[in-house]
Amino acid sequence: MRIVAIANQKGGVGKTTTAVNLGAALAELGRRVLIIDLDPQANATSSFGLQGVEDISLYEPLLGGALVTEKIFPTQREGLFIVPADLDLAGAEVEIARMPNHLTRLAETLKPLQEDETFDFVFLDCPPSLGILMSNALAAADELLTPIQCEYFALEGLVKIVRLVEQVRDSGANKRLELAGIVMTMFDGRTNLSEQVVAEVRQHFGERVYETVIPRSVRLSEAPSFGKSILEYAPSGAAAQAYRALAREFIQRHSPPAARALEAPEQ
Ligand SMILES: Nc1ncnc2c1ncn2[C@@H]1O[C@H](COP(=O)(O)OP(=O)(O)OP(=O)(O)O)[C@@H](O)[C@H]1O
Ligand SMILES: [Mg+2]
Repeated sequence: MRIVAIANQKGGVGKTTTAVNLGAALAELGRRVLIIDLDPQANATSSFGLQGVEDISLYEPLLGGALVTEKIFPTQREGLFIVPADLDLAGAEVEIARMPNHLTRLAETLKPLQEDETFDFVFLDCPPSLGILMSNALAAADELLTPIQCEYFALEGLVKIVRLVEQVRDSGANKRLELAGIVMTMFDGRTNLSEQVVAEVRQHFGERVYETVIPRSVRLSEAPSFGKSILEYAPSGAAAQAYRALAREFIQRHSPPAARALEAPEQ
């Protein structure tokens, strides 16, 4: 099981959209994925039509009052599960801050998941602030996946994230954390700007940037209001194809080197 924090302190860059749709596309490929909605706004939760569930979030497990395994909901898609968020989570920020092990609460909470082999990937959909919940996600994660919008200042945002990862490593909270992947989102093929931003980010971050770029698509922003992922809402559109391609690339990057060699096309 690999824990992937989907994080960027900037709001509205496609974190939740990527958690939901990459999760759905991985499940379509037979992987078992758990999305943990760590954002009190609960956007991932409502993307699955689960808004309004009460008392079912990571709040109690974080404070030691329940097990994470008691808060897992199935979604309509086989192999894809979610721990919903609710407004209580906003309160958890304050309460965790008072606890002695306040940076590693989430890592502790997720331990029961490590012990059984139910999930291949756990995605932590982070809120867009550098608060306690996001710090806990970075302390609990094996890697960071950062969606970034194809717009000016993309690089500056990334520099801040790199610094944040270094801080988490230096603090000793999580020495293995790395910024393993960058996904460029909301690519607009009609403008030169998108092309330029992608080229610039690739120049600085090389192979960490996924080959697959997610296009700007109205379908992607409509799907959540129907409680559907893009794979159900517009299965053959460009956005669904992009998230499927991202899932294939993600799996390739996360398979052991021997398996990777087998999957490589023959010369
Ligand atoms: N590729 C895309 N094309 C068009 N709209 C998109 C795309 N990706 C995301 N959106 C829309 O942009 C908005 C922000 O996306 P999303 O909620 O995924 O970002 P976020 O980083 O999770 O935001 P927050 O920081 O508030 O949690 C949403 O309305 C979403 O539907
Ligand atoms: Mg979000």
